[in-house]
This record gives sequence, structure tokens and C-alpha cells, in this order.
Amino acid sequence: MCSLGRKIACGEKYEVKEIDLIDIKKLIDELSRYRFIKPRVHYTGGEPLLYAKFIELASYSKEKKIKWSVTTNGYALSNYYKYIVDNGCDKINISIHGDEGMHDRIVGVKGCFSMLASNLNILNEYKKSKNTPLPLIAVNCVISRKNVKYLHRILSTLRFLPVHSITFQHLIFSPDALEKPDSDVPRSKSEIYFIKDFINYIESKHFDVPILFFPRIQIKDLFNYYNNYVYPFKNICVFPWLALRIKTNGLVTTCNGFELGNIKYGKVKEMWNSCQNREFRNKLRRFGIFRDCQRCCHRQYY
Ligand SMILES: C[S@@+](CC[C@H](N)C(=O)[O-])C[C@H]1O[C@@H](n2cnc3c(N)ncnc32)[C@H](O)[C@@H]1O
Repeated sequence: MCSLGRKIACGEKYEVKEIDLIDIKKLIDELSRYRFIKPRVHYTGGEPLLYAKFIELASYSKEKKIKWSVTTNGYALSNYYKYIVDNGCDKINISIHGDEGMHDRIVGVKGCFSMLASNLNILNEYKKSKNTPLPLIAVNCVISRKNVKYLHRILSTLRFLPVHSITFQHLIFSPDALEKPDSDVPRSKSEIYFIKDFINYIESKHFDVPILFFPRIQIKDLFNYYNNYVYPFKNICVFPWLALRIKTNGLVTTCNGFELGNIKYGKVKEMWNSCQNREFRNKLRRFGIFRDCQRCCHRQYY
């Protein structure tokens, strides 16, 4: 379901280089100097816990007092939990897409779920030993055709993990996914019914941890979210006013692949305030979201 994974699975040549630590350090140095608004850095990927210099990155983030968080598949957490807790990570998002057999099938790695569950316990025990509530642990479960029938079952497994929230994320997809019969997009009436039924169930009950949906699509619009790419949801997005993305080659992009510069050669603040970025935002404000943004999770649907 990940667009990068799909490209590689289809044999597309896609060379991914790890980001240079020296470049992120330069970025962190810059961010740490800002006094009033201190940007958060969120490490995601790819898989951040496979980054060869993750330990140095974590300790540098702490040294420079940067707020940081991470999204991970959790598989290598047993090697890194101490560095994550000790270096001030305040939130860790863990991707879990099913119960034991289902998660393993979806991610394609046997034994992944049990490894993950055990790693979460290790992390939690370590937090207790350090008497700290951080990082908060958030599970992200992406709804797809592969798990849509089993959402109740998935929840009954995830509820018993030591986590602070469980989010069911609606699939992000491109328009061509709607033309492929074998895509992961749950589109049929019965598949949509499973999602509706599940949301109704969650809304009618009280749980010990928050159970969330993201983006928050109203039940009446679910069929259109998954079937009608041009359904007239609210046509705005404020994401480029809130965040930037940095790729492994240092390229700084706002949304829709729009490039603003490279952290190797310039300051993020200058890119953030650049004419190009202002023009991009003005275009978005005046004309609304772009075609490829239709099923992004960061846009405003209402
Ligand atoms: C891109 S992954 C990278 C981080 C890490 N390797 C992981 O597995 O969590 C970040 C999150 O995006 C989710 N994701 C991937 N493809 C998606 C899609 N098409 N729609 C919604 N979420 C997706 C993943 O499941 C994961 O929770």
C-alpha cells in the first residue's frame, strides 16, 4: 500500500540513499536556534530504525533540545528503545495492520506481529523503570482491502497492547488505483459497510484508550471517499502552512512534490519564507487543492 514499496515491487528503478547525518545535524542546529516557534522534527521513512546513524541522530536531537517523534514498523525497537526513551522522543507511532497472522501477511514478514508486541512490552517496562510517560505510543492501522472485514478482530487484539491511542487510518490512494481491480482500495458496498459498521460501533462505546479515525470522514461520505475521486469535499488544505518534508537526498519539499531547496545548501527558514513557497501557498489558497491531493490525509475534508 505504500507508494514507494509499490514502485519497487513493480520493478521501477528507485535508488534510495540514506540521508547524511551531517545534513540533518545542520538542520537541527538551525531549528534549535529558533526561540519562539520551535519546529518539531518527525522521523519517518522508509524505516527510521534501519538508519545506520539512528543512535547519533537521537542523541543529537536531545543535545540540541529538539522536540522529536518517530514512525516505525517497530521490528527493530528492541535494539533502540533505550535510545528512544533516554533521548527525549515524545511520541512513537507504530504501524500495525492486523492481528498476528494478518499483520504478518500484510507486511510480508512472518513473526513480525509477535516481535512487535514483545518490543512494545520491553519499551513499556523500560519507560516504567525510568519513571517517564514518554514517548507516548500510538498505533496506526491502515484500513485496506486486506483487513477491512476484520476491523473488530483487529481492535480486540490492539486494545490489549500497552499503547496510548489506536488510529484507524483511511487509505491514501492515487486516481489510477480506482482503475485497477486488484488495488488495495476497499470500494465495494460490502467493504464500505464493514467500515461504517465499525465506526458506528466505536462511536457507541467507551474504551480505555482513544480509538480514532484519520482523516475523519463522515459515515455518509465513506462510499464517495473510496469511489469518487472528484467528490466535492471542502477544497482547501493548510498543510503547507504547517510543515515541510525533507527527503533523503536533502531536498526540501512542500506538498505535491514542489521543491524549495536543499538542506545541504540553504536554511530552511529562508525556504519556508521564500517567494516560491508563498506563491505555492497563494495558488493553493486561490484555486484549491491539486488533483493528486484528492486523497491525501493532510487536507481538510470538511
Ligand atoms: C510510510 S510508513 C513509514 C514508516 C515505517 N516504516 C512504518 O512502517 O511505519 C508511515 C505510515 O504510513 C502508512 N501508509 C503507507 N501507505 C499508506 C497508504 N497508502 N495510505 C495510508 N497510510 C499508508 C504506513 O502503514 C505507516 O503507518
